[in-house]
Amino acid sequence: MSDKTVSLVGIAGSLRRDSYNRKLLAAAQQRIPDGAVLEVMSIEDIPLYNADVESASGIPEPVTALKDAIARADGLVIATPEYNGSIPGVLKNAIDWVSRPSADIPRVLHGKPVALMGATPGGLGTVLSQTAWMQVLRHLRMRLWTGAGPLYVSSAGKAFDDDGLADAQIAERLETWLAGFVDSLRN
Ligand code: FNR
Repeated sequence: MSDKTVSLVGIAGSLRRDSYNRKLLAAAQQRIPDGAVLEVMSIEDIPLYNADVESASGIPEPVTALKDAIARADGLVIATPEYNGSIPGVLKNAIDWVSRPSADIPRVLHGKPVALMGATPGGLGTVLSQTAWMQVLRHLRMRLWTGAGPLYVSSAGKAFDDDGLADAQIAERLETWLAGFVDSLRN
């Protein structure tokens, strides 16, 4: 096993100040195992994708920053909400921008290990959204890590309080899950 620090970059797919998914990602950052770091990137300043904007002025700076962070990282963590049984638009939009220009996809995304987690006040824990992500990740030839099973947080109103993740069982599960992802990147 190598002693090299494992670097992760994380994005949460919600712009909401009190977003459960942002809290879930923050909880992951607090529970990152020794020898690993998790840099949380915001998608808040990423504009709506417009091919005319891309043609006229290229890739917007917040997108370039996210692309370079993903390219540098050993792995990506996505905390995804679920909207209408699928991926929320703001998060799909961010990944659509990250995939531009397509000539840069191999550098940034091909083969990149990615782990999905998600939180919802509902009962199914973002299972539909995470399933929808699989199609996108496969298209981008990313490497979906499933080694510790899925991380679904349901009934998020109970799992989180104002300070963040409040449910000890979910916190323990998150810790084990993260350790599994980090270990997979060490080997
Ligand atoms: C939702 N929500 C939702 N939840 C779910 O479990 N399955 C779903 O299909 C949907 N659909 C949906 C559509 C739209 C348009 C909205 C605005 C919301 C509820 C959603 O999980 C909830 O708003 C979460 O709080 C969103 O995640 P953040 O912002 O807390 O991270």
